[in-house]
Amino acid sequence: MADSKKLYIKTYGCQMNVYDSERIAEALASDGYEQTQDQSEADMVLLNTCHIREKAAEKVYSDLGRLKPLHDEKPDLKIAVAGCVAQAEGAEIMRRQPMVDLVVGPQTYHRLPAMMEQVRSGQQALDTDFPEEDKFDHLPKRVLPARNPSAFLTVQEGCDKFCAFCVVPYTRGAEVSRPAARILKEAEALTERGVREITLLGQNVNAYHGHKDGLAGLIWELSEIDALKRIRFTTSHPNDMDDALIEAHGTCDKLMPYLHLPVQSGSDRILKAMNRKHTADQYRALIARIRDARPDLMFSGDFIVGFPGETDADFEATMQLVRDVHYGQAYSFKYSARPGTPAAEKEDVPADVATERLHRLQELLSAQQYATQASMVGRDVHVLFEKKGRQDGQLIGKSDYLHAVHCDAPVEMIGTVQRVSISKSMTNSLTGILAK
Ligand code: SAH
Ligand code: SF4
Ligand code: F3S
Repeated sequence: MADSKKLYIKTYGCQMNVYDSERIAEALASDGYEQTQDQSEADMVLLNTCHIREKAAEKVYSDLGRLKPLHDEKPDLKIAVAGCVAQAEGAEIMRRQPMVDLVVGPQTYHRLPAMMEQVRSGQQALDTDFPEEDKFDHLPKRVLPARNPSAFLTVQEGCDKFCAFCVVPYTRGAEVSRPAARILKEAEALTERGVREITLLGQNVNAYHGHKDGLAGLIWELSEIDALKRIRFTTSHPNDMDDALIEAHGTCDKLMPYLHLPVQSGSDRILKAMNRKHTADQYRALIARIRDARPDLMFSGDFIVGFPGETDADFEATMQLVRDVHYGQAYSFKYSARPGTPAAEKEDVPADVATERLHRLQELLSAQQYATQASMVGRDVHVLFEKKGRQDGQLIGKSDYLHAVHCDAPVEMIGTVQRVSISKSMTNSLTGILAK
């Protein structure tokens, strides 16, 4: 048995990275590494990085700079960079920061134990291939102890859509779906560890084709696992919302009434320049069809403001679309030019104009978010309790609509779904009491 060494992982970016970080920890456990939450006691620090916007990518270099004193103090400390910056920049990372021992892309982290051999022999290790073999076939089985009742499960990776602003098709490669049988096995193993809610992940999860009936087929099969109480999926592309998936939102009890469906812009001109391949009205019609299937479904979205060429009128069209849809939750970003993407060749909207638009959009989205949350007061919702709250006797969980809910309840209720009467809406959460 190898000596136990401590591994500290910092995760940036999307849920796919959160999932990857867990799998990386499992892969390195076989190399004798145990995870720690305290960076100062680490023998290895791994940054699992995101390349989506310039700020996210540059943060990695400032964090590496901040690790320098710790490395000077502890020269044996191993430093690894994984994820999408690793994929996009590869050896450049070691050039800018020579203390980095290892750089590994999102498709090759199953090779980490072998790469660690190389590091131990005093070399730097770099692997950013898109290999033929599937990393999931080579990763250790998921046999860790009981865990949080809610888990992520990656079912699809990569993207073939090539939106004009986006690095994902380059950092994650072509769209690949994992076979349904493997996912079902992984889901069963997770439920044996106490998981009751699974969020299926993919950059374009509704383009999943590892089941003959697509994502809806996979969801229906997962819903037959008794111990699994809730299913969610993210992120979806509007053009891949097929009839079966829309229908499942109305008929599959375990599929939660929350859907992240990014549109990016409400202007047809900008949608075209973004290569999104649908219009604002097609998106409105899709929202209406999904609401027909499941009237209480809560929508969430992503928006980019200040895309090259965006005029005041284009931006107003985005504001109008937001008013029409009414989002329960949303993320909005200022456009960031990314190296290698088609939009990066075009002239940027002036920074102050983009900033002002972002503020206006965020004000509208926040108002919708608070209104949606406040509308829960006086209602009974189902809550999956996940952990103890800060106050004695209180638990925290998530409602069907993904709102955080605080409620007095016995600790044995962690991992169970209960009905809760909502009494109060606070800034980022709801409070309630167990329903009679
Ligand atoms: N596959 C998902 C999105 C993945 S990236 C989809 O198609 O919706 C997550 C979000 O980051 C995007 O929805 C977009 O709003 C934002 N984003 C991506 N590239 C960006 C860029 N270059 N500048 C600003 N925001 C960006
Ligand atoms: Fe990026 Fe577009 Fe693919 Fe989403 S669909 S990951 S925004 S290229
Ligand atoms: Fe970022 Fe890569 Fe996810 S670029 S958003 S970590 S797919």
